[in-house]
Amino acid sequence: MAEKEYTETSEAQIAVHWGEEGYYMPSVKFIAQANMTDESIYDRFSMDNFPDCFKEYADLLDWYKYWDEILDTSDAPCYKWFKGGLLNVSYNCIDRHLAGNSNKTAIHFVPELEEEKIEHVTYRELWVRVNEMAAVLLDFCGLKTGDRVTLHLPMLPDLPVTMLACARLGIIHSQVFGGFSGSACGDRITDSGSSVLITMDAYYRGGKLLNHKQKADEAVGIAEKHGQKVDKVLIWQRYPGKYSASTPMVEGRDFFVNEVIKDYYGARVEPVKMPAEAPLFLMYTSGTTGKPKGCQHDTGGYLACVTATSKYVQDIHPEDVYWCMADIGWITGHSYIVYGPLSICASTVIYEGIPTYPDAGRCWRIAQDLGVNIFHTAPTAIRAFRKTGPEEPAKYNYEFKHMTTVGEPIEPEVWKWYYEVVGKGKAVIVDTWWQTETGGFLCSTIPAIKPMKPGSAGPGMPGIHCIIYDDKGNEVPPGKGIAGNLCIRNPWPGMFQTIWGDRDRFVRQYFEKYCKDSSSKDWRDWPYLTGDAAMMAEDGYVRILGRIDDVINVSGHRLGTKELESAALVVEEVAEAAVVPIRHDIKGVEPDIYVALKPGYEPSEEIAQKVNAALVREIGPIAKARKVWIVPDMPKTRSGKIMRRVLAAISNKSDVGDTMTLANPEVVEDIKKMVEN
Ligand code: WT7
Repeated sequence: MAEKEYTETSEAQIAVHWGEEGYYMPSVKFIAQANMTDESIYDRFSMDNFPDCFKEYADLLDWYKYWDEILDTSDAPCYKWFKGGLLNVSYNCIDRHLAGNSNKTAIHFVPELEEEKIEHVTYRELWVRVNEMAAVLLDFCGLKTGDRVTLHLPMLPDLPVTMLACARLGIIHSQVFGGFSGSACGDRITDSGSSVLITMDAYYRGGKLLNHKQKADEAVGIAEKHGQKVDKVLIWQRYPGKYSASTPMVEGRDFFVNEVIKDYYGARVEPVKMPAEAPLFLMYTSGTTGKPKGCQHDTGGYLACVTATSKYVQDIHPEDVYWCMADIGWITGHSYIVYGPLSICASTVIYEGIPTYPDAGRCWRIAQDLGVNIFHTAPTAIRAFRKTGPEEPAKYNYEFKHMTTVGEPIEPEVWKWYYEVVGKGKAVIVDTWWQTETGGFLCSTIPAIKPMKPGSAGPGMPGIHCIIYDDKGNEVPPGKGIAGNLCIRNPWPGMFQTIWGDRDRFVRQYFEKYCKDSSSKDWRDWPYLTGDAAMMAEDGYVRILGRIDDVINVSGHRLGTKELESAALVVEEVAEAAVVPIRHDIKGVEPDIYVALKPGYEPSEEIAQKVNAALVREIGPIAKARKVWIVPDMPKTRSGKIMRRVLAAISNKSDVGDTMTLANPEVVEDIKKMVEN
């Protein structure tokens, strides 16, 4: 990886040293069956045809009332797509498929324990469950359109059932990644203003049945401390009819969904006709300050985007079995396990556990047994597979036609391994670059039209016009071998509408940098700043270097360094903290944390352990630091800013560069000695 990849602030015009990779061609067999083979799509979606081109996406959906204005920019950069249109997401993902496909499998659920039976949920069964759950939300919880509900659910079918039940009623769901702590969940309950939390008693991870219910008690406590009262906690049972956690139920607050729902067996709830611009869900993501931001996604634009991209980029057909290995708690799972695939009537796989349980062959057995032919995962998983050797995939008799990599830059070596070993040299690969904020893919090849290039995400999707700016706002032209700040020149369906409750932060963070006229209502004046540094090759393919802000990407999980630092500061003895990314074979990067103690405290192993415990408690196990370094002082600029760049260089054993401008250059040597020993 490039040395400058993780500098803490933008250094647009980063020279890039890697060579260009050659093209890989999709097979004739793949092209012959592909959903999108018409190259003119790039002309149809040219800048001249913006925004009308996106009618093609909208027309993949069923509308109660067709929209009358494709893009309303009157509140730029908060846009409204398909204005005047009315639709329902649950209707589009379920009801509309019943006439022709009611007995088709919508969800293949694979429990982590191999001795447990795989469950095949048909579209009709999904429809029944979603209706009944919607009745619970409406009648038992008293929720209505526009209310927010926090979900803290693991990877079971109850999660999409709950999401779709919310969507049926226009209730805004906010699903918090199941691996996050109770405290992180509590913060998100507070920010979203949810009075109902929906969770599960337990789930399997690495062969252990984890008590998940205890996190709900913590979450509710935290939320109440911050003034957000949670009236009801609904608990799905991992084993219906049986409580699998040891934590007591709270009388009058906690209810088992599996019990309550019995009163609603057979209930049918009409889908609510929602305006296209109504919010569908919030997805919290890390930012440059400690407070996570709730990305607000709409109904019509979002569904149109994920439907079209599932069809054209994921190339899902009715007869395919599609498995995206992400967690539904992240945007990838929302867009490409649940909403996109179900909208096009796919069979989507949900796997409860970890990919290597009970052994390295598990994924390939699942693929073989279910006949999975489209596989979607992240570089961090691919690196882990690679570590276990090429024999494993070869033992199993599956055949992928299509594979996806997403979430972080993939090294060309790892890409080639994925292609040869996992794909057995037959599957096409798409490297899809996008973000929580963007709802769907921004850069990717359309697999039957554009060749693959290892390590490059590919060109902007049709209708997505990428540009690279330097810090002054000059375009860095393609093919110069120079990276800069990757921006999108135009809005698109799928783009988030705002940060929940914080329009100013939305504008400041994503648009201010390159907006020349903040009163403009013209979308051309509002390029979207992605926060990624990238380079565009001569052919328009975009290669991502990584984040330009204080965000690190651990195993594809995005963590704000500031969030980790503020968690460390919860420890009584800690005065200052700085998190830096360190390269890791599998995870891409992992955090190292440097802390300086308050005066009067001596460094000890005990304090180091307390810091790590705080990271796990406040954020979750993925935030655990590789090392906690207790240092005498932080290297600082004269204005008192911590020089994370210097610490990152020390952790990564690379050149610290010029330190003479620091207020305390001598401390660098001390820290270096400590880390090197
Ligand atoms: C950040 C967004 C997109 C869903 C999962 C992560 C990095 C994402 C790629 C890719 C290189 C990638 C970027 C981006 N990223 N996809 N194909 N190649 N980098 O969503 O948590 O919002 O993270 O992940 O840095 O900004 P997220």
